[in-house]
Amino acid sequence: MDSRELRNALGRFATGVTVVTCRGEDRPHGLTVNSFTSVSLDPPLVLVSIDRRANAVPYLTGRPFAVNILAAGQEDLAWHFAGRAQPDLEVAWVEGRLCPRLAHSLAYFECSPWRAYDGGDHVLFLGRVEEFAYGQGEPLVFYASRMTRLVPPGPQPER
Ligand SMILES: Cc1cc2nc3c(=O)[nH]c(=O)nc-3n(C[C@H](O)[C@H](O)[C@H](O)COP(=O)(O)O)c2cc1C
Repeated sequence: MDSRELRNALGRFATGVTVVTCRGEDRPHGLTVNSFTSVSLDPPLVLVSIDRRANAVPYLTGRPFAVNILAAGQEDLAWHFAGRAQPDLEVAWVEGRLCPRLAHSLAYFECSPWRAYDGGDHVLFLGRVEEFAYGQGEPLVFYASRMTRLVPPGPQPER
């Protein structure tokens, strides 16, 4: 199977963009993640799928983490935490109840560790949501390897 083509096909699934944040060695750590999924309401569980080679894996194993949903206009944060450091970017961190998180996200979920499962070359981390909040606004969207925005719908046909 051609894995580049597989990635291209998977990229036809439009997603939001999150930054998963946690405590690193001696400072907060974050990585950009679009594999975020809601799993369960009772108990309240969410999932992120993380590459086994990511620096974050040991920081997430058995440890709390936060999922920060990015708003439109936060592309610089998304690229920064995807390994393309933005030299002029000042990241505004908040010390949450469980772990560090980002200020000014569209929504956040602070999670305690629930389970980790084998996901091939990724690890599936499930977290139990302990704190969350959300605001109003437009989300950042990832589609076909690009950051984009929701297109406001035109006039809708009457149903
Ligand atoms: C839009 C976007 C979505 C991404 N989603 C994921 C993901 O779901 N899981 C993952 O492991 N890496 C994902 N990445 C790649 C990581 O952000 C990147 O490899 C990061 O540098 C890993 O950080 P770390 O190794 O310091 O923990 C994504 C990158 C981008 C730009």
